[in-house]
Amino acid sequence: MTELQDFIMSPEDYDPKWPYYLELMTRQLSAKRLEHSLKVAETGVALSRLYGGDPVKIALAGLLHDSAKEMKDRQLLAIAEEQGMITDPAEQENPSILHGPVAAWMAETQWGVKDPIVLESIRYHTTAAPHMSIEACIVFLADLIEPGRSYQGIAELRALALIDLKVAMLESIDQTFIFLDRKKVPVHQGMVACRQWLAETEFEYQTNHPEANKKCVDFERRPS
Ligand SMILES: [Fe+2]
Ligand SMILES: [Fe+2]
Repeated sequence: MTELQDFIMSPEDYDPKWPYYLELMTRQLSAKRLEHSLKVAETGVALSRLYGGDPVKIALAGLLHDSAKEMKDRQLLAIAEEQGMITDPAEQENPSILHGPVAAWMAETQWGVKDPIVLESIRYHTTAAPHMSIEACIVFLADLIEPGRSYQGIAELRALALIDLKVAMLESIDQTFIFLDRKKVPVHQGMVACRQWLAETEFEYQTNHPEANKKCVDFERRPS
């Protein structure tokens, strides 16, 4: 079976300003977080070989998506409140999910990222949202399945990601709901709305890759 690692990044997948952003992230992030971000970029590009979307935008969003992840909750909350970013009570109860919107805000206001697809992909990687672009869907999923991740159920999710982007996203959202329920953490309504959108909408993001033209019929979700 084809593995995501079989689709590697090539020179045309890099934004012209990639070295600048890489330097920024090298200073901004811990080595471990930087490694994760690069793996999200690579995994996202691999998924774009299957499902489409702009690999350059996906790679840049992957590199920048966790730039606010190492901020303290109170910092995230202070920025989000000041910038009018609060959209759901879950953000006040669990401010860490604000690291997506805050990273998008920093990318736009401090680092000159103007592309709405890149910004959207960064913004929604924590909470998801209905009507996400293909690029944002891919970054959301790449964040969860990059090769450095390890948790119960990830093998199934990686396999699904090669077959059906929509089913893989639904599965990852359901896993998140189970995880949040166990931790007694509220669910963000953006994610609820995203799940509904995915479930109800004829999904246009299909792949032409021969390895992916299989229907996922017998997949049994195993609660982690
Ligand atoms: Fe994140
Ligand atoms: Fe991440």
